[in-house]
Amino acid sequence: MVQHTATSVVTIERFIIEQERLHPEATGELSGILYDLALAAKLIANKVRRAGLVDILGATSDANIQGEIQQKLDVFANETIIKAVDHGGRLCAMASEEVEGIIPIPEHFKCGKYCLLFDPLDGSSNIDVNVPVGTVFSIVQKITRGRHGEMEDLLQPGRRQVAAGYVIYGSSTMLVYTTGQGAHGFTLDPSIGEFLLSHPNIRTPDEGQFLSVNDSYEQYWDEPTKQLMRKYRGLEGDRRPLTVRYVGSLVADFHRNLLGGGVFCYPPSKKSPQGKLRLLYEANPLAFICEQAGGAAIDGKTRVLDIQATELHQRVPLFMGSKNDVDLALRTFAHHSELVGA
Ligand code: AHG
Ligand code: MN
Ligand code: MN
Repeated sequence: MVQHTATSVVTIERFIIEQERLHPEATGELSGILYDLALAAKLIANKVRRAGLVDILGATSDANIQGEIQQKLDVFANETIIKAVDHGGRLCAMASEEVEGIIPIPEHFKCGKYCLLFDPLDGSSNIDVNVPVGTVFSIVQKITRGRHGEMEDLLQPGRRQVAAGYVIYGSSTMLVYTTGQGAHGFTLDPSIGEFLLSHPNIRTPDEGQFLSVNDSYEQYWDEPTKQLMRKYRGLEGDRRPLTVRYVGSLVADFHRNLLGGGVFCYPPSKKSPQGKLRLLYEANPLAFICEQAGGAAIDGKTRVLDIQATELHQRVPLFMGSKNDVDLALRTFAHHSELVGA
């Protein structure tokens, strides 16, 4: 990796170019998608920042594919991303949490070799109360032979991602991404409209300080999950107690834990046996970044990045963050399955 001192001003464009040079075989197509996404992030950040001022708040009458109320900013973010990337000739298909099927590249544009999957606005139910929201994206290479990307291309396991990232629209706007050579964070300087390298090579602590879980679902959890939470809270076993932090915006919870160390859990429950989060738009990209920062992500027993998706909007239970804390989840669940002979 090219080394930068804390004082050098490195724009995201410069950083992407320098990373690309490390791959002599690179065609620049992936870099082009990343630039386009950085532009989309700036447009969305601008709109999100004005959310309390303009008449854009409130739910539209359409329910999205997940059956949840879709906020107007979800629609804006979805369209902004599609428009920022569809014409570049680098993508052959897209999929969004907000759209039921494959989003094709319009016929009059060239098709490329990459597929983009994204959650345009994560945590959108929090917009009305001024809580951070985010965008999450994942990029894979096409494996089928035709001109257009197909379902098979979009359903590849997360370990095949060539890039992934998220944007957090918080007290400042940050973009964090990986192409498999570490996870790097950029903060938007609104006065010049540039993302500047602020967090090179992010490393997450092996042992966390935060536990992020919605424990109002405790009554619906199975015994192993309840036991794990007791361990995280220091009520059982010898783990130093974690402190609870739960925003309810995955990107915000993940970002805090990535920097400070911690574990994010969305366990399966009687109410939602597969949890809530989507494998392709949320779990895979964040798991890729988490691993690149030295952390881990599992669904309870399997590494998230090894799960083979069978449908676009598939949900997955998620335990993600500091390595030792995710290991504790793995060991706790493995122990219970041994006991019941599963
Ligand atoms: P989205 O707004 O993209 O549908 O995601 C919602 C999410 C995620 O951001 C968060 O972690 C989770 O929903 C919170 O769910 P609970 O309210 O069930 O805890
Ligand atoms: Mn989401
Ligand atoms: Mn969303």
